Amino acid sequence: MAPPRRYLAALLALLCACTTTMPPAGSVVAAANVPITTCRSFCGNITVDYPFALHPGCGHAGLRDLLFCINGALMLHLPSGSYRVVDVDYAYRGLTLHDPAMSDCRALDLAPAGRGNGFVLEPWREPYLSPDPDNVFLLLGCRATSPLFQGFPDRHLPCRNVSGMGCGDYLGCLAWDDYYAGGGGRRGPSSGDAAGQPPECCALPWGAIRAVNVSRLECEGYSSAYSLAPVRAEGAAAGWAYGIRVSWTLPESNRGFCGACRATGGACGHDTESHADLCLCGDWNSTSNCDSSADAARSVAATLPAVAALRWAILASGLTSLWYYASTTSNM
Ligand SMILES: *[C@@H]1O[C@H](CO)[C@@H](O)[C@H](O)[C@H]1NC(C)=O
Ligand SMILES: *[C@@H]1O[C@H](CO)[C@@H](O)[C@H](O)[C@H]1NC(C)=O
Ligand SMILES: *[C@@H]1O[C@H](CO)[C@@H](O)[C@H](O)[C@H]1NC(C)=O
Ligand SMILES: *[C@@H]1O[C@H](CO)[C@@H](O)[C@H](O)[C@H]1NC(C)=O
Repeated sequence: MAPPRRYLAALLALLCACTTTMPPAGSVVAAANVPITTCRSFCGNITVDYPFALHPGCGHAGLRDLLFCINGALMLHLPSGSYRVVDVDYAYRGLTLHDPAMSDCRALDLAPAGRGNGFVLEPWREPYLSPDPDNVFLLLGCRATSPLFQGFPDRHLPCRNVSGMGCGDYLGCLAWDDYYAGGGGRRGPSSGDAAGQPPECCALPWGAIRAVNVSRLECEGYSSAYSLAPVRAEGAAAGWAYGIRVSWTLPESNRGFCGACRATGGACGHDTESHADLCLCGDWNSTSNCDSSADAARSVAATLPAVAALRWAILASGLTSLWYYASTTSNM
């Protein structure tokens, strides 16, 4: 005879309640099940996920205090300014940034003392974030006394093409016609002239200077373009992608840590004070993963066997009833 449905429903309700309301002992036995939204969020239509985060303590410490969601726009803050995040490419570990104070092929943004923008990272962040080697920075209107030209006697300037993008093409942009027509002085196209005049434009990869501080470099402005390898930029500068393409890198050890943390239902994060990796397991945190915390394990060790036995007993009786119910009803 089949057990009444009412009895079965009550039993299952008890089983469910029991398995879901048992932390912290339950979280040690069966691992945590932290909601995916604990650290993942959206800003506009961009997903913000590990190693980035909008919540303190989430994400990797090397990328902390970096992204902010302001009126639906994802912004990246650095000492040199705020950049709009246009795209986050998790597969290729790349960010595409837009700087509103940057020149492009259609409009120049030049000011005699520079606008103080560019791209400068905090020294502690440098191991984790840097512009791509295929990103070209074009420094515009730099003075002869610029640190850019010191230590490079005669015409051996550090300026060069980067991934096929350089000043020769950039100076062909229509924006320069307007600039010259408006009284902007024309200097040597990209090489500087014999009188020691600096070039109007100097193109460099990030690796050559590792800090693009427009005012410190005594320039009037800058532009930046990128080419997504292995596709090289073709044709004139009007067709380049303008913006700053940045990649992130995490220490090798982080991959294993974060993989184990996620596999046990946790969310990868970091300690807001020590900045060490931390696995967020719901109502407790672990320095390894949600299955193993020496402290948490010790404090609940005494109750573990009893709790586990009780759960198995309930589970077993629930399954037996279900099986019995199913087998009797299917024979009708
Ligand atoms: C996000 O929205 C912007 C416009 O608001 C659009 O240009 C962009 O392509 C969108 N990005 C994605 C990944 O959908
Ligand atoms: C766990 O770590 C996160 C991030 O550092 C912190 O916000 C939270 O308060 C911690 N929780 C506990 C229970 O210590
Ligand atoms: C850029 O250089 C100027 C002048 O040297 C300096 O005052 C400023 O702090 C620098 N900015 C950054 C972000 O390093
Ligand atoms: C830079 O690229 C331009 C255009 O492709 C080319 O004419 C020029 O020779 C290149 N300069 C160097 C130094 O390679």
